[in-house]
Amino acid sequence: MSGIDALASLRARYQPAIDAALEGICAGFEVRVPVRLAEAMAYSLTAGGKRLRPILCLAAAERFGVPPASAMPLATAIEFIHTASLIHDDLPCMDDDDMRRGKPTNHKVFGEHMAVLAGDSLMIWAFGYALSGLDRNGIKAKRVIKAAAYLSGASGPFGICGGQVLDTDPESFEAGEDFAYKIAHRKTADLICASVLTGAILGGVEGNEIILAEEYGRRLGLAFQIVDDILDATGTPEELGKTPHKDERQGKTTFVSAFGLDRARGLAEDESAKAAKAAASLWGARDELALLAEELAHRSA
Ligand code: IPE
Ligand code: IPE
Ligand code: MG
Ligand code: MG
Ligand code: MG
Repeated sequence: MSGIDALASLRARYQPAIDAALEGICAGFEVRVPVRLAEAMAYSLTAGGKRLRPILCLAAAERFGVPPASAMPLATAIEFIHTASLIHDDLPCMDDDDMRRGKPTNHKVFGEHMAVLAGDSLMIWAFGYALSGLDRNGIKAKRVIKAAAYLSGASGPFGICGGQVLDTDPESFEAGEDFAYKIAHRKTADLICASVLTGAILGGVEGNEIILAEEYGRRLGLAFQIVDDILDATGTPEELGKTPHKDERQGKTTFVSAFGLDRARGLAEDESAKAAKAAASLWGARDELALLAEELAHRSA
């Protein structure tokens, strides 16, 4: 352990601007969006959350020469997609959760129909918002298109939606330990990987650096979901801001159900170490993104 709180330091650097941008976006809804839909989107977007994905996007962009302000439309769009995936993940037809980010879930406050539409709205609008904002900020069109295509791949049938099918659809369940990895790659690691890679794409990342940035994001994403599964089994509602012990009750395939708690902890450390190694090759072992990878294997929230 480094003794440095890398996440706290990255949050201090990037989160105030991310939160301010999200609040500004929500304030702008009022004029053009039906009031209830605006309220439902704003409720979940501003409910808190670690902001890990937009932080990763801005940090990767900056390491490839793009100032945070220029990459912000992409970082916020990624948080739209993530927040949409959580609103839908919590619906009664999915994980049926009552608490998220320390507050009642979106459908508990606004109703299921509004939660579906708020999620749809955020997921779809994310792309138009990112494309026009990046264009306005002078990012080269080719890079913008490449980043948007990568993000779409991580969010739709190949990524989050496909992962959520594997997670929730009994006819898609598979036997074997690999299934936990298969789910986690798609439902979580794809978007975390895309957060890093799309930030790097804005800066024109090329060659071996693409491979290393992808390795970093993917390993970090897997570690993140392994720990999410561990925390579901071991955390408290106060720590997590969501209801623990749901996975076992709902018979989910998780790293804990497939490997047991101790092995799952070891697997999280393995993935984190691989992520840290990739980050060290790109930016040096003392870079906060390398330290973050080690830290996330031991997070408690
Ligand atoms: C929760 O993500 C869903 C998973 C992919 C495990 P986070 O733990 O990043 O949720 P927030 O954004 O901090 O609420
Ligand atoms: C959610 O995984 C992943 C997505 C939202 C795509 P989980 O169902 O494990 O996330 P939590 O535990 O509800 O945050
Ligand atoms: Mg789920
Ligand atoms: Mg869930
Ligand atoms: Mg979970």
